[in-house]
Amino acid sequence: MLGRTQAGYVQQRLLDLEPLPARRAVPHIEVSEQQSNPFLRRLSAFTPGLLESAEFSHIGLFCGGGGLDLGLAFAGFRCLVASDIVPQFVETVVHNMPHAAGLVEDAMALTAGALSSAAGTTEIDLVAAGPPCQAFSILGRRGALDDPRGRLALKYFELIADLRPRAFLFENVPGLLTTNGGADWRRLQGFAKDTTGYDLHVGKLNSVTFGIPQVRERVIVVGFREPCCFRMPMIATGPYAKELMQEGHLASPSIWALQQVEGLPNHNIRLHGDRVTARYHAIAPGMRDKTDHTDRIDPNRPSGTVLVGSSAGGGRPHIHPIEPRVITVREAARLQSFPDWYVFRGTGTNQYRQIGNAVPPLLAYELGSRIAAALRG
Ligand SMILES: C[S@@+](CC[C@H](N)C(=O)[O-])C[C@H]1O[C@@H](n2cnc3c(N)ncnc32)[C@H](O)[C@@H]1O
Repeated sequence: MLGRTQAGYVQQRLLDLEPLPARRAVPHIEVSEQQSNPFLRRLSAFTPGLLESAEFSHIGLFCGGGGLDLGLAFAGFRCLVASDIVPQFVETVVHNMPHAAGLVEDAMALTAGALSSAAGTTEIDLVAAGPPCQAFSILGRRGALDDPRGRLALKYFELIADLRPRAFLFENVPGLLTTNGGADWRRLQGFAKDTTGYDLHVGKLNSVTFGIPQVRERVIVVGFREPCCFRMPMIATGPYAKELMQEGHLASPSIWALQQVEGLPNHNIRLHGDRVTARYHAIAPGMRDKTDHTDRIDPNRPSGTVLVGSSAGGGRPHIHPIEPRVITVREAARLQSFPDWYVFRGTGTNQYRQIGNAVPPLLAYELGSRIAAALRG
């Protein structure tokens, strides 16, 4: 059940944070039924109105740009608190989910008391998080649990033990299963079990299975305070799911996500110099640019995993399948299944980062739906 929330409350611990812009009503952007495809029809059915549902409560830790929390909200989990160390990430979540309290904080300094106080209740149904994955990611250093960022995963389970929500959701990169020959994964699972005492369910999901036009694998751990009947999702459910799955496609083609983007928020086309444009022009769809190692999307297949696109490594935005340029923030968001009304705050690099780090909201929606069903009993 929900308790009192502190809507609009944002704790700004970092002094250099600019004042937050005034809250605006989140617009609902319609996609024309006539011109759109099954994926866009499905996406446009996930309106801000769904966020009003309040059957369950949840806290989002390491929230990033809010992909996980958005999908859970669509499944009926009202986000009471969203917390991350990066102010602009929290700003994005609170901008789009105005009922959530934003908490800008280093997770190592978080306590169950601070989270309950920000949530306005000690009765929390779900705590969800994807602690930093660089330590485990095959794209990052493989220092795993002994890396300070790996230790954040342990902190997460300590917070679960203190908060005692009815359920928790932990997600991470598949590299988590294999680093150090699987020893880190065994240690983490053992730690989660011993620290929380929860009933654990483990799975590996790929977003393409759910009609999302992007290949993205995630390891999922769902824990329940009391043992209950839970099964990992296997197919898309909800609005237009049947239509999406009946199209005869093994997987949604990326071009479905890249149509009708003109005029949408966060759709700012990056201009390249003549040499880069000529190079991108010459790369066939599905192939890689040998100079900057950027992949050109094949329009007829799901895209590769959308990356964070940082100068510190971790890949760049993919090249558009038709135009000789990298995809925009909005196009990356579409491939990740963020609806068009969801706006990303911060600088361009920061926006790409939020999207590249995110759990696809419509994957989180499927997980949330199964968790909700299990909690209903
Ligand atoms: C993989 S991303 C989470 C993505 C998010 N679950 C989503 O679906 O959009 C991990 C997040 O952890 C945050 N983070 C890293 N170190 C942190 C720390 N010490 N305390 C709090 N958040 C931290 C990062 O800023 C990043 O947003």
